[in-house]
Amino acid sequence: MRIIVYLLFVPSLIVFIAADTSFNITQTKSLSYGNTLVSFPQGIFEFGFFNLGNPKKIYLGIRYKNIPLQNVVWVANLGNPINDSSAILKLNSSGNLILTHNNKVVWSTNSQKEAQNPVAELLDSGNLVIRDENARNSNQEEYLWQSFDYPSDTLLPGMKVGWDHKRKLNHQLVAWKSWDDPTPGDFSWGFALNPFPEIYMMNGTKKYHRVGPWNGLRFSGVPEMAPNPVYLYEFVSNKEEVSYTWTLQQSSLITRVVLNQTTLQRRQYVWSDIDVSWKLYSTLPEDECDNYGVCGANAYCSISASPMCECLQGFNPTSPEKWNSMDWSQGCVLKHPLSCNGSNTDEFIKHIDMKVPDTTYTWVDENIDLDACRDKCLKNCSCMAYTNSNISGKGSGCVLWFGQLFDIKVLQTGGQDLYIRIPASELVNREERQGHSKRSTIIIATTVVATGTILLFCIIVILGVRRKIAVNIERQLEDMDLPLFDLLTITTATNDFSLENKIGQGGFGWVYKGKLDNGQEIAVKRLSSSSDQGIDEFITEVKLIAKLQHRNLVKLLGCCFQGEEKLLIYEYMVNGSLDSFIFDQSKGKLMDWQRRFHIIFGIARGLLYLHEDSRLRIIHRDLKASNVLLDEKLNPKISDFGIARAFGGDQIEGNTNRVVGTYGYMAPEYAVDGLFSIKSDIFSFGILMIEIICGNKNRALFHGNQTLNLVGYAWALWKEQKALQLLDSSIKDSCIISEVLRCIHVSLLCVQQCPNDRPTMTSVIQMLGSEMELVEPKEPGFFPRRIVDEGNLSSDQNQVTSNDELTITSLKGR
Ligand SMILES: *[C@@H]1O[C@H](CO)[C@@H](O)[C@H](O)[C@H]1NC(C)=O
Ligand SMILES: *[C@@H]1O[C@H](CO)[C@@H](O)[C@H](O)[C@H]1NC(C)=O
Repeated sequence: MRIIVYLLFVPSLIVFIAADTSFNITQTKSLSYGNTLVSFPQGIFEFGFFNLGNPKKIYLGIRYKNIPLQNVVWVANLGNPINDSSAILKLNSSGNLILTHNNKVVWSTNSQKEAQNPVAELLDSGNLVIRDENARNSNQEEYLWQSFDYPSDTLLPGMKVGWDHKRKLNHQLVAWKSWDDPTPGDFSWGFALNPFPEIYMMNGTKKYHRVGPWNGLRFSGVPEMAPNPVYLYEFVSNKEEVSYTWTLQQSSLITRVVLNQTTLQRRQYVWSDIDVSWKLYSTLPEDECDNYGVCGANAYCSISASPMCECLQGFNPTSPEKWNSMDWSQGCVLKHPLSCNGSNTDEFIKHIDMKVPDTTYTWVDENIDLDACRDKCLKNCSCMAYTNSNISGKGSGCVLWFGQLFDIKVLQTGGQDLYIRIPASELVNREERQGHSKRSTIIIATTVVATGTILLFCIIVILGVRRKIAVNIERQLEDMDLPLFDLLTITTATNDFSLENKIGQGGFGWVYKGKLDNGQEIAVKRLSSSSDQGIDEFITEVKLIAKLQHRNLVKLLGCCFQGEEKLLIYEYMVNGSLDSFIFDQSKGKLMDWQRRFHIIFGIARGLLYLHEDSRLRIIHRDLKASNVLLDEKLNPKISDFGIARAFGGDQIEGNTNRVVGTYGYMAPEYAVDGLFSIKSDIFSFGILMIEIICGNKNRALFHGNQTLNLVGYAWALWKEQKALQLLDSSIKDSCIISEVLRCIHVSLLCVQQCPNDRPTMTSVIQMLGSEMELVEPKEPGFFPRRIVDEGNLSSDQNQVTSNDELTITSLKGR
């Protein structure tokens, strides 16, 4: 007894008073202060009395047994603490646990089931259950009661959030008032039973954040839920339940999801000699765009844009004045009314990379396809948008949105397509009739027939031998549903390909800047007629990039294939290529650390998309600073897919006897053996990261040390724990040391000698975006300069670096 009194005064030191531990509670064995019920069989959790710093407020609950801090995962008497140690928990004959204090019931369970021989146990999952011992061996044993049905603020692996229709239970998380007061706070996290259900974080009765509906792969607004080796996510929606569960694929990890009064956090417990803590893995909301409905109706939010809210295409601000002063609450309205007269004259604009709108007013049919979905939407005047309800595989099912569209966000990766209804008149003069691919193919085909009969004739006559190939290419291009530009438009735009408009050169032709009649600036890549080698690459590039759409990839606007001319038309990037910034003393100063980090992240996302998110697995093969272009807001866009390779989903490696790429960025196994894989791209990405951090080229010499390139130098510094010396002097003041160190660490992981050791892009992004523990890098694969010079990797003769934008490099190997 004396011990207990003493311990009460140092409550934070000792967790439980382990005077007596047991594995069950029965009608004859109760639980009192000082006793604990330990989880069976491994003893991971324990159930008992404790306080959170104030010995006058005693709670009964479940905690991790061997974790000393923030270990409470469930509390019975949440808002109802006991003020001394005389309370007792008993199991009564009807199978209910009853907590009494001074003869008053403080808390009890509410099982209505009959039980003959009830017993309470704590499972290793952290679930406190009451079962009927006599029913133990029957197959259909159901618990009389379980704590997993009544979550507090914590979601453990295997625990469900959602509705149990049969028992009319809503499992939701409820935040504590504060870290030391488990009284239910204002924030909750649970499913709303919309026609297309989704989880909301509520602040009282106000929506605060939503995850977006389950799209077959993940919640629409949480791209981090992409398949990964650590977590499995499961969503169930049927007559009996709507629920979400997560589980761990590696049982050695200790992870929990906790809701507090502002965020939902996923935390992972780490312990080592120097650090014991719950590391933050991810949070919701993630950014300002996640604040529910921040842009008002019919607008979308893009965190990389400034301002971040924009009206959907075809819509105008309801109140332009307010909108322009960044008050977006009024949202946007259609510029022109929908026709909506059944004559199908409305159209749909396809928006990509979206978190789909709030699903309160929706309608879902799992059994119809996208075309039928579109027709359904057209037939109902209040239907404003549609898309596939399930995006796995080729996509299936249909969801329609009625009325105003709320809380749409543009995602950096992992977003989905959304087709939004607008009057057909909005589409006149636009090339983007993406909402209906069949129709636009027809339009393009008609255009070709109308304006191109002569053209086709010319191709046949002029190209003669090449006729077959040409027609074939033409057909291929049409199939791609890519806008075809008229040659005259392009010659006008580029001043007849004048010298002043020339902005770069590469292995298969020149690049020109141009300006279309409507004022839009473009970059035109012109395949030189003499380049035979170029034609394959030209087609590769068109085929690949036409299918790719991502904010961190340069956008192909269209192409032109007329007579001898083969042209690719891209959006023009005002700020040219990354190398012109980071390798330039004065321009480098414009790039503070935040900008550089933003760029690193953007490139990573673009590459992730190429490697894992686009339908084809694409290996870029020539990632480098001069192939990263910057738009007016200095957002990075990966360009130049001339030598990229596309693979089917599961092929991950290829071999070539024509090594192309750029010296200084090539992974050793690629340069030497011609083996390329996503891991050789990762290598190039690692090099690029180091260059961005230090502002020097990998192939430049360092500190007079003739045998080391940049990677070698970085490795040497890392080993001496002087990695910060790598830092470009112009960012020393603006940088966040921990972020820089993390980036250097990750970059060294990317350039490791052995491809298998290098991380994938998914984990690169996870590592960059969280504080998770990183493994130590092994020795990088780098060549001392000497060896390369002796080899036949001729590096310079084909490379012309433009001072402005597109730079093309094609390097002939052996
Ligand atoms: C919730 O947790 C986050 C992350 O740890 C923290 O920044 C925030 O202050 C917490 N909110 C409250 C109300 O305690
Ligand atoms: C359109 O859909 C809404 C929502 O489902 C429904 O209430 C309305 O009756 C439909 N209108 C027509 C004309 O079908």
